[in-house]
Amino acid sequence: MARPLLVHDDARDFADAALAGLAQPQKVIPARFFYDRAGSELFEAITELPEYYPTRTEIGILESHAADIAATVGPGRAVIEFGSGSSMKTPLLLRAIAPAAYVPVDISAEFLQASAAALAADFPGLAVLPVAADFTAPFKLPGGIAGLPRLGFFPGSTLGNLAPIAAIDLLRGFATTLGDASWLVIGLDLAPGPGKSRETLEAAYDDAQGVTAAFNLNLLHRVNRELGGTVRTQDFVHRAVWNDVLGRIEMHLVATRDTALTAAGQHFSLDAGEHIHTENSYKWTLPEARLMARASGWVPVADWTDSEARFSLNLWQRDDGRMQP
Ligand code: AVI
Repeated sequence: MARPLLVHDDARDFADAALAGLAQPQKVIPARFFYDRAGSELFEAITELPEYYPTRTEIGILESHAADIAATVGPGRAVIEFGSGSSMKTPLLLRAIAPAAYVPVDISAEFLQASAAALAADFPGLAVLPVAADFTAPFKLPGGIAGLPRLGFFPGSTLGNLAPIAAIDLLRGFATTLGDASWLVIGLDLAPGPGKSRETLEAAYDDAQGVTAAFNLNLLHRVNRELGGTVRTQDFVHRAVWNDVLGRIEMHLVATRDTALTAAGQHFSLDAGEHIHTENSYKWTLPEARLMARASGWVPVADWTDSEARFSLNLWQRDDGRMQP
């Protein structure tokens, strides 16, 4: 089940964050709470929608360029994947680069064991060393990869769900964790451009079948299920909009009429048209992506896109810190 969870999500976190977010002048429920069981199933369905191009486009780029990655980074590396194995993408990379070890890192031990076992079965002879950790904080790599050169793998444009400062912090953390002479393969979704209209982008987050709407509205169902809430979910609609100034798709839950709700015994109200902001998904131009690499301790070495320049796969090398003019 697809579940690109960046940080911990337990009952206590959800209650604290939802109550604090609903009390703000601009109401917010953070995107990390999308991925309960129902939300993870809906996200899996999103990745297969005709409008949601990122997943299949990234797979296509990886199919076309895994050999280029292999030629640049060489065999015998430890591949460290941030997030538990992304079903189709990981084998594509591993098959091409002939690594010595594979280290999936995920906060959920349950997801980790399942994906690590599936991968180990497909790659007999490969050392698979799962690490249950929150990779947004410093963590230790397993002793079994000591001395091996490293390659980080962070597909899916998951970075886009972080605010820019947090994204840079995470990339800097990857550089520290992976160490000297490491590489990073990172998937980044692209901003609208000549081959990609704003409509394409907005449709990817507002599909005709309403799966993304259900994914977004699931947050309100979670309030009702987990916080004893009284949200009239029928008073809300899903909205996805491209914010050109901030370079991101925003998802909102918009109240279609004046509505009141309680959550964990606290009262909140929204006027018609008022909305709860639930997700940002940042998109970049290639020059922005390259600058982000430089700003976070990486040197961009190659980037590849599909023929319509919708999505990018980026190969970065750790900045060796040598003196610059
Ligand atoms: C997980 N993440 C990269 C997805 C995205 O595209 O930002 C989450 C998502 N939200 C709505 N559709 C998919």
